[in-house]
Amino acid sequence: MDHVARRATPRRYLMCPPVHFKVTYSINPWMDPAKPVDVPLAVAQWEDLRDRYRSLGHTVEELEPRPDLPDMVFAANGATVVDGRVLGASFAYPERQPEAAAHLEWFRAHGFRHVHEPTHINEGEGDFAVTSSYVLAGRGFRASPLSHGEAQEVFGRPVIGLDLVDPRYYHLDTALAVLDDATDDVMYYPGAFSPGSQAVLRRLFPDALIAEEPDAVALGLNAVSDGLHVLLPQAAVGLFQPLRDRGYEPIGMDLSELLKGGGSVKCCTQELRQH
Ligand code: ARG
Repeated sequence: MDHVARRATPRRYLMCPPVHFKVTYSINPWMDPAKPVDVPLAVAQWEDLRDRYRSLGHTVEELEPRPDLPDMVFAANGATVVDGRVLGASFAYPERQPEAAAHLEWFRAHGFRHVHEPTHINEGEGDFAVTSSYVLAGRGFRASPLSHGEAQEVFGRPVIGLDLVDPRYYHLDTALAVLDDATDDVMYYPGAFSPGSQAVLRRLFPDALIAEEPDAVALGLNAVSDGLHVLLPQAAVGLFQPLRDRGYEPIGMDLSELLKGGGSVKCCTQELRQH
């Protein structure tokens, strides 16, 4: 690939510390309630991620964790914010449903004036990914296809529906990451998508970075990029060189404890896009 000069732009993120993280129920194939979770380690790994964002010049806001909501650390699922407009979440499983109100309350308390309470099920940035041209939207396991039309109406951007077919990749953000939201550069794992959705992705992003299975299984696509630095699970070793070849600086993070809940870097990070 031709050398492209990448540029980081400052971001604002919303995160929620995993002080009450546990795996007491199983709503995705990664979650095994029989496996113990080391909460102090989860917190230390999460703090590493938060501090890394801050050292890169990004702003991290913190949401107050609630003891009865062990998955609240996965803050990406609580809403989607594009151009300062907030589309709240509505969770597929009752265990997580109260998280939606906690997020709405935070947005209202922090001066967001366009806050839309959803009619249809959507799990925030778990299933919505924002590029400069589109909102990519997963469906099949969590978000209702009807939420795609709702997102298009709220954001006024074209929403592209993508069908997820492998339960390990139950959210779009476990199978696809936006690397550069100014030039529409993405990486994804084709095996997570239906044949038709794979064809759509090839058509929209012919130069995308294509991930191999071992990196997808390490949740390597659950990554966050500021346009230059790409924070991703350190076990996804096969993605590092391809990212460097495209001009990015990959930064490996260890979120092994949170992987027991079925999430990693991106799941812990909701981006607050103001403009
Ligand atoms: N245990 C959570 C669930 O299954 C994990 C969510 C991960 N978040 C994400 N954005 N993929 O709902």
